[in-house]
Amino acid sequence: MNRMLEQAKTRRRFLKMLGASPLIAGSSIFAGSLASLLHAAPLEEEHFLGWLENLQQSDAVLSSPDQALDVMDFEPAARKAIPPAHFGYLATGVDSDATVQANRDGYSRIQIRSRRLVDVTSIDMSRTIFETKWDTPIVLSPVSAQKAFHTDGELGVARAAKTKGHLMMLSTVATASIEDAIAARGGPVWQQLYPTNVWEVGRAIVKRAEKAGAPAIVLTVDLHDGSNRETLFRSQRVDKRQCSACHGGGYSPFARGKPGTNPVSGGFAQYVARKPMFDGLDVSKVTQLYPLAVNWDFVKRLRDTVTVKFLIKGIVTREDAQLAVEHGVDGLIVSNHGGRAEDTLRPTIESLPEVLEGVGGKVPVIVDGGVRRGTDIFKALALGATAVGIGRPHSWGLGAFGQAGVEAVLEILRRELRTIMRQAGTTSIGQITHNYVVSRPS
Ligand SMILES: Cc1cc2nc3c(=O)[nH]c(=O)nc-3n(C[C@H](O)[C@H](O)[C@H](O)COP(=O)(O)O)c2cc1C
Repeated sequence: MNRMLEQAKTRRRFLKMLGASPLIAGSSIFAGSLASLLHAAPLEEEHFLGWLENLQQSDAVLSSPDQALDVMDFEPAARKAIPPAHFGYLATGVDSDATVQANRDGYSRIQIRSRRLVDVTSIDMSRTIFETKWDTPIVLSPVSAQKAFHTDGELGVARAAKTKGHLMMLSTVATASIEDAIAARGGPVWQQLYPTNVWEVGRAIVKRAEKAGAPAIVLTVDLHDGSNRETLFRSQRVDKRQCSACHGGGYSPFARGKPGTNPVSGGFAQYVARKPMFDGLDVSKVTQLYPLAVNWDFVKRLRDTVTVKFLIKGIVTREDAQLAVEHGVDGLIVSNHGGRAEDTLRPTIESLPEVLEGVGGKVPVIVDGGVRRGTDIFKALALGATAVGIGRPHSWGLGAFGQAGVEAVLEILRRELRTIMRQAGTTSIGQITHNYVVSRPS
């Protein structure tokens, strides 16, 4: 007990010392957070100290995108640049974040079987999805509210997608409209759809996106109300800025420190009204982004409404894959929302094979979750994915350096994919098959 008291005192002395340092005093976020930590509970203190320790250890924190050796280097840089609560929103999974980690671990259980003595002078990484040929199979998954990470927001991501030639999906709750994203991309962007509990609102978003030129609508089906985003809630406790200054009307969709509170709860109309894709719509009855009542009848109704390609994102089982195909979808995205949906510990890369079985080759299947390396992309392609999505990595790049950071993340992944294709002896994406991977012996 005495030892614990001693440790607490030492910690407090350390915090006071930090508070006096010009580095911290110069940052309103850290100075404010430190002041409150001097009165905070030990758990919060631990958390923030861990946070600072991470920063300190990173003499490696990037000062420009070209210093990055891999995409993970952008995470501490983003953590440093983004206000704590916003970084917490980006980082969080649910409960203990175990599925966030599991998504990564899944890739480490797969090993690559490289072939030798293949002429790899020329590597073709292009992939065709719905008659459009992309430079690579690397896709930008939809991420909400990206202006919370950098003022460039989704338009910075779209410009990076243009420079590097990547497919981008725009979130329904993005901080940019589909028209502006398509203009910034200089080409089509897919529209992700949260249909809301008001049919006319969801339908209007679909029709607006179609009119703007989105060639695909992606219905996300994996995120119900009430996900317990503990990492987010903890980060909110150390961020003492006033949410209402930006979140408007005194309402924040992420009430500070309240487990179980997420954007699909009360005060919701105010939240969606600020999002460009809801401009001009009557949102007074919108209470949920993804209504609890959504079922396969709803999918059928939506399928009959959508005139462009129609995909479902969030499928992780053979049965649902089969049903999706029976309901006329044009494609699937195997996803667990980057570990933000439920803490099941099942990595998406391990859900992929059964989803592919259910699909039976009838429609393309994209996978996302935990993809951080060119070798991860290679493994997903080898298991049968058509393409591979990234969520947090491009958001780290964005948060750290805006558009330039997103471009750097994409460049690193492209370089790594090219390298492993050479090493494995595969000169085109089509050549990357099951023969090139094996399960790690247990
Ligand atoms: C901050 C954040 C916001 C997200 N917003 C959305 C969203 O609006 N719609 C959606 O379908 N998925 C959303 N996702 C999930 C991503 O599209 C993607 O499935 C996930 O990030 C992939 O995992 P990764 O982050 O490990 O790459 C979000 C993910 C994050 C991290």
